[in-house]
Amino acid sequence: MSTASTLSVRELKPGFGAEIIDVDLAGATPETLAGVVDCFHLHGAIVLRGQSMDPAALVHFASQFGQPEGHTIKEFTLPEFPEIYVLSNRLVNGKPIGSHNDGVGWHTDYSYKQEPVMCTMLYAVEVPAEGADTLIADTCAAYDAMPVAQRERLDGMSVHHSYTHFMSTRQYQRRELTPQQKLENPDVWHPLVRTHPADGRRALWPSAGTVMGIEGMPDDEALKLLDDLIEHCTQPQFVYTHKWQKGDVLVWDNRCSLHTGTLFDDQKYIREMHRLWVRGDKPY
Ligand code: SIN
Repeated sequence: MSTASTLSVRELKPGFGAEIIDVDLAGATPETLAGVVDCFHLHGAIVLRGQSMDPAALVHFASQFGQPEGHTIKEFTLPEFPEIYVLSNRLVNGKPIGSHNDGVGWHTDYSYKQEPVMCTMLYAVEVPAEGADTLIADTCAAYDAMPVAQRERLDGMSVHHSYTHFMSTRQYQRRELTPQQKLENPDVWHPLVRTHPADGRRALWPSAGTVMGIEGMPDDEALKLLDDLIEHCTQPQFVYTHKWQKGDVLVWDNRCSLHTGTLFDDQKYIREMHRLWVRGDKPY
């Protein structure tokens, strides 16, 4: 039986993230895949380079982590694989095949849902020679680094998230929601400090974009606090920067991290990524 300890790994940052070496995901045995999932749970993020994954293999891999999650916007999912969302600036017959600059800005995925996604997986189909890095911040380490009095002040605060607000104010991919999309995505409140269900660790969970305020606090004060917390979490000592190569698979745990995409020269380069999500549960 393969476990995380039988795989060859190197840490991405001290105490956070791991690169798994010499595993071919498309041809891996169930035991090896179970070891890869164990490794993800142990490290909070994993990278596997040089993979060759068709859509069926990606969905199969995602389902090792749990139930793959659908996407709110259906426009850029693959026709036969609704679990796969395309991030791209590529045009085919003058039409975009994916969402461009979709994940730029520090956030955690599906924060506007009652049950945000547990993990996010990106697979690099085509990447620019420079730019378009993905940054992941370890928000357990960021929480642990705060003075006790500050942690005690934040514990118990509840953040107001709104998908409607997000989609009408975001810098890229702004759009008016249909009445059905509004109905399916009512506002939600989540703890500012969440508990990791697997091991009880506490993580700062501020996010950006979807947030409108903090319960019981004036909005300007709340938004300033959330900005300050994002600034705290995204200091270099807490952040892993992933420099993409074609064939990379990167998976991170949204329950203990924030992430952001970064810009690239989209007139010079094409970027095409396949993104999958795995169902999560209600933060507490
Ligand atoms: C995301 O936030 O889902 C994508 C990040 C990226 O494109 O690098």
